[in-house]
Amino acid sequence: MPREAILRGEEREEDRAIATLRPHRLAEFIGQEKLKAQMQMYMEAARARGDVLDHMLLHGPPGLGKTTLAQIVSTEMNVNVKISSGPAIERPGDLAALLTNLTQGDVLFLDEIHRLRRNVEELLYPAMEDFKLDLVIGDGPHAQAIRLDLPKFTLIGATTRTGLLTNPLRDRFEVVFHLDFYSDAELKEIVLRGSKILGVSVTEEGAAEIAKRARGTPRVANRLLKRVRDFAQVKKKSEIDRTVAKEALDLLEVDEEGFDELDRRILQVIIEKFEGGPVGLETLSAALSEEKDTISEVYEPYLLKKGFIQRTPQGRTATEQAYRHLGLLKKKQSEERLL
Ligand SMILES: Nc1ncnc2c1ncn2[C@@H]1O[C@H](COP(=O)(O)OP(=O)(O)OP(=O)(O)O)[C@@H](O)[C@H]1O
Ligand SMILES: [Mg+2]
Repeated sequence: MPREAILRGEEREEDRAIATLRPHRLAEFIGQEKLKAQMQMYMEAARARGDVLDHMLLHGPPGLGKTTLAQIVSTEMNVNVKISSGPAIERPGDLAALLTNLTQGDVLFLDEIHRLRRNVEELLYPAMEDFKLDLVIGDGPHAQAIRLDLPKFTLIGATTRTGLLTNPLRDRFEVVFHLDFYSDAELKEIVLRGSKILGVSVTEEGAAEIAKRARGTPRVANRLLKRVRDFAQVKKKSEIDRTVAKEALDLLEVDEEGFDELDRRILQVIIEKFEGGPVGLETLSAALSEEKDTISEVYEPYLLKKGFIQRTPQGRTATEQAYRHLGLLKKKQSEERLL
């Protein structure tokens, strides 16, 4: 499976295989400390009032724990979670069916909520705000609008692109959380936790090496851990230390920055084909023969975060760091050198 699919979360099978690595309680969830503290507080307050938790929007790059958090909330609140996603809900009737099947306090998790169809989204507004379902029965002159009561529920919406959410939808979430990339120290903890669950021996340094190349992303950290474990097994190493981790990761062509082949190609194309940019997303996508969404949702966030590219109104530009990473010189500098 290509890495962008993994980052994007399409590797459901692998996710299922590492389902045991998925934390079930908030206390097991590593990192995102501010978010956790706030979430803990909201849950405690709702529990104390005997009330249902407010609607919550989780946004951030793929693989950082949005689905995991939604499941944790349902576990901690001791309620059921029903899971669906924007593109899966084709007609208003599908959403109506989901909503009428909820019981008081349930969590409805809607992944990729920015991809809800317009007519479905509009049905969600009164459901979120007043816990009412507006239905039209019949059509033509005999059409009748009816309003049904829904049980009080908690909607948890997840999106990688909050910018694409409509204002009315965004406004109806009482709580909005942004998930940011994890620090190397947090990822190291995630790797160590994962190694205990998988029953493999990893040294502190081995874990740090995997963490460093995990792109700030727990899903990637867990996946790299499993690949390094395979490598160690085949090479008959009883322990994953730094050397074993390095060798395995080099073999996977994940470099020191955690970049893979497409990361490097993005930087290279901006630099070599477009003289460092600015270059627009459309043009970049055509030059790379890669989908726009893959570039902008899966790859760019980390490259931006790490300062390898910048986004300007005119398009993307490569930074000094990008030139250095690829062992290239900026044009101006190379010209200066010639003088
Ligand atoms: N804080 C964490 N601590 C430990 N493991 C984590 C943490 N966050 C996520 N994971 C692991 O990373 C994997 C991906 O997390 P999750 O599926 O929740 O990401 P997501 O944000 O929903 O991604 P997507 O946007 O692709 O749906 C999970 O299998 C989980 O085990
Ligand atoms: Mg998810």
